Amino acid sequence: MNKNPEMLKFIHMTDCHVAGNDQTVYGERPSTKLRAAIDSINRDHEDADFVVITGDLTHHGDDAAYENFARELRRLVIPSHLLMGNHDDTRTFRFHFPEAQRCDCGFIQGSKRTPYGLCLFLDTSHKGSSAGRYCEERSKWLSGVLGATDGPVMLFMHHPPFKIGIPDTDDSKLEDAEAFWEIVEPHKDRIRHIFVGHAHRVVFGNWRGISVSCMRGLNHQVSLELLRSGSGQHGNFEAPAYGIVLANSDQVMIHMHDFTDRSERFVF
Ligand SMILES: [Fe+2]
Repeated sequence: MNKNPEMLKFIHMTDCHVAGNDQTVYGERPSTKLRAAIDSINRDHEDADFVVITGDLTHHGDDAAYENFARELRRLVIPSHLLMGNHDDTRTFRFHFPEAQRCDCGFIQGSKRTPYGLCLFLDTSHKGSSAGRYCEERSKWLSGVLGATDGPVMLFMHHPPFKIGIPDTDDSKLEDAEAFWEIVEPHKDRIRHIFVGHAHRVVFGNWRGISVSCMRGLNHQVSLELLRSGSGQHGNFEAPAYGIVLANSDQVMIHMHDFTDRSERFVF
């Protein structure tokens, strides 16, 4: 049962890119930003049911980075569900998070039942590639779960199976998106939303009729250079953000929380 029986509330965070030994990534310190995000959740959203982090937990996937990530995460007062991104390393992750859900085929996949939908956490990582892959074994797991259940579903995955209009990101989306669609399509009327990471931008819309969204990363962002190619992609330091999701049987609403904003409040 969720904390508020009338509304499921959870946090969507993504792309923390934590490095080991407090190293910086592109000149910024990701662990400091993760700490600020966790402070913000503990302070303002203790009533949320859980946090989902949709991959790129670390930048280099090394022991020191997962140690650092785990140290920060232990401060979180609500449960978390962790997904793999292309910057993660499954073996090292498993060593540091032995309790993390995994499917029979060994991928970091699992589920969580809520009164307003079954959350399915997918592993789209593909070792050695920045693009995503959803292989036969993982597909079998997903079609098995979808076939054995009914009712609403929310999907969580690092790599978008769709293009967002930023060429470098689109080049590293889920490679086998059409095969993935074949699994999803028979169930598309019950899939309430797909939450993704990887894009390091706030993006929302729909993919073949299913609503989708992505949140900013915590450390760095991909700059808004739409439909340009050949000039190389730039990053930037737009403020980090996480999403606050409010779901019931009628709707799924997502607020982007610019948690480092310190602008003045005023009375209307
Ligand atoms: Fe990332």
